[in-house]
Amino acid sequence: MSQPTIESILQEKRLFPPPTEFAQKAHIKSIEEYKQLYEKAKTDPEGFWAELAETELDWFQKWDKVLDWQPPFVKWFVNGKINISYNCLDRHLTTWRRNKAALIWEGEPGDSRTLTYAQLHREVCQMANVFKQLGVKKGDRVGIYMPMIPEAAIAMLACARIGAPHTVVFGGFSAEALKDRLVDAEAKLVVTADGGWRKDAIVPLKEQVDKALAAGAPTVENVLVVKRTAQQIQMEPGRDHWWHDLQKGASGECPAEPMDSEDMLFILYTSGTTGKPKGVVHTTGGYNLYTHVTNKWAFDLQDTDVYWCTADVGWITGHSYIVYGPLSNGATSLMYEGAPRASNPGCLWDVVEKYGVTIFYTAPTAIRALMKMGEHHPNSRNLTSLRLLGTVGEPINPEAWIWYNRVIGGDRCPIVDTWWQTETGGFMITPLPGATSTKPGSATFPFPGIIADIVNQEGESVDGNNGGYLVVKHPWPGMMRTVYGDDDRFRRTYWEYLRPKSGEYIYFAGDGAHRDEDGYFWVMGRVDDVINVAGHRLGTMEVESALVSHPAVAEAAVVGKPDEVKGEDIVAFVTLEGEREPDEVLEKELKQHVVQEIGAIARPGEIRFTEDLPKTRSGKIMRRLLRSLAAGQEIAGDTSTLQDRSVLDKLRGGA
Ligand code: WT7
Repeated sequence: MSQPTIESILQEKRLFPPPTEFAQKAHIKSIEEYKQLYEKAKTDPEGFWAELAETELDWFQKWDKVLDWQPPFVKWFVNGKINISYNCLDRHLTTWRRNKAALIWEGEPGDSRTLTYAQLHREVCQMANVFKQLGVKKGDRVGIYMPMIPEAAIAMLACARIGAPHTVVFGGFSAEALKDRLVDAEAKLVVTADGGWRKDAIVPLKEQVDKALAAGAPTVENVLVVKRTAQQIQMEPGRDHWWHDLQKGASGECPAEPMDSEDMLFILYTSGTTGKPKGVVHTTGGYNLYTHVTNKWAFDLQDTDVYWCTADVGWITGHSYIVYGPLSNGATSLMYEGAPRASNPGCLWDVVEKYGVTIFYTAPTAIRALMKMGEHHPNSRNLTSLRLLGTVGEPINPEAWIWYNRVIGGDRCPIVDTWWQTETGGFMITPLPGATSTKPGSATFPFPGIIADIVNQEGESVDGNNGGYLVVKHPWPGMMRTVYGDDDRFRRTYWEYLRPKSGEYIYFAGDGAHRDEDGYFWVMGRVDDVINVAGHRLGTMEVESALVSHPAVAEAAVVGKPDEVKGEDIVAFVTLEGEREPDEVLEKELKQHVVQEIGAIARPGEIRFTEDLPKTRSGKIMRRLLRSLAAGQEIAGDTSTLQDRSVLDKLRGGA
């Protein structure tokens, strides 16, 4: 292969400056302009954000106070009244954007739909009215379990419109995982579809909802079902309603509810270090502002763009950068239902060509999978409309970066590597494409207003080329407000893990990072018990709990092992109950059991049966050792705290 290796790139230390023509037209045009904005935001964060809130958003009532910071609890734009659905829709209707495409949608079978701002507004109002008719009031939670169809975005915006927080559950999660989330959020209504298309097959969403509700989600009163795949499904009279039936009688006008800036907009569940996923809470005003401004500056959103983020709305990327950020900016956001598949490995490039996509945002794992499929797929399509590429989800390896740049970007598109999290609401460390010279594999510099730093265990800044924990030292408008129903977990997880002597509260992201001599940030990956499988975040404990819920399993320890395409893959070390003997049938059964408990994204790549797990004298599983074993490496470092050294030899023998 003629691809450069990591070593050659690190030796080259190549810088990719913004193309001159790109910079001239960009919102932020030079590194000096970025530095000025950064300094301004650092010296007067409240003034910086207040000015943007005033110029970029429409408010029903202005705030009394920009920031109320009672660490670790924050309020932005106190007593301000705003509605994000209004900012995403209504305010564009009085401008030329009224008839601009808001959403362009392409279905996997090749069907498509375009909704202008006026059309989207109408459908959102209709769905909001249907929600009301089904008894949903301001403050009630609504579960959304949908394929990638326009109605997914419509449901989110309809919730926002009437002030009912949504909790979107990724359509790849199992019925069991869906039930847990509906129960935790106490959802009153679920919006779903009969099914969705994925890789030429139907994902039976409604069937999963039926199972979830049968397993017990007592707060759910109604289910609204969108017809997509048209296979036979069960409709329970009184509980289940077809959207197309109720839409018929619904008015296309529904005033946007004036929400308090700090009213909850949504809950989105994500994995942490315990078995129970966390309900990350985002509120209205700060989130609207933060996704709006980051989307505009980091992706240089312009009115002529056709902007495509390939994420699913079930993840934060879909929330912030398919729905809220782009629509608040009045942009054209493309939604695609499908995925590269045997029947059309080049489908993404067909979509780029068909719609003249100008901005394309995807994940490193997807880029690596596309690399493997071969260059002839992109090379046989016209991709010259592209002017900017983005990446998110995990550190991008320089080979993938270089390939993306050359084969997809034709060596002319800036690559925007955005580091952020479900918790941060929007981009935190990212190039500004007209300003920042990029380095393959680095997310470069913090966004204006983000005081990012790298610290040691004592919470002290580490300088120079040293690695440490990635932290944020000042609140920002898009940050999560709490873990739903668990303020204490919020405090412990993010704010009390690292405590500087000064007693100051700093946000700990869970990632390790280092800074190079030019001040560029390099994110190295999670330092906690979270693994990143194909850009999907999973807690090791979550997968372990799923495994031990199987009657044959006594104990399980899960670690990540490096994987060429997925970044990491799951390896589970399992000890069995009593006399139970391991065999291939059981191995299959256990993998399937995890799929049933969580979803296909959590299926272990490998299960290793063992008589014992390596533990410290106090009984803690030594995952570090298991990680080395899984990766096929020699065990380095201290093993003196091991309770029983013979366990390691057995594990080596068994592997
Ligand atoms: C974790 C957050 C934010 C949307 C997608 C994932 C990793 C994310 C990058 C990047 C290196 C990255 C981190 C982070 N991550 N983007 N550009 N470079 N690592 O959201 O599921 O909340 O996961 O993804 O480890 O903590 P998420």
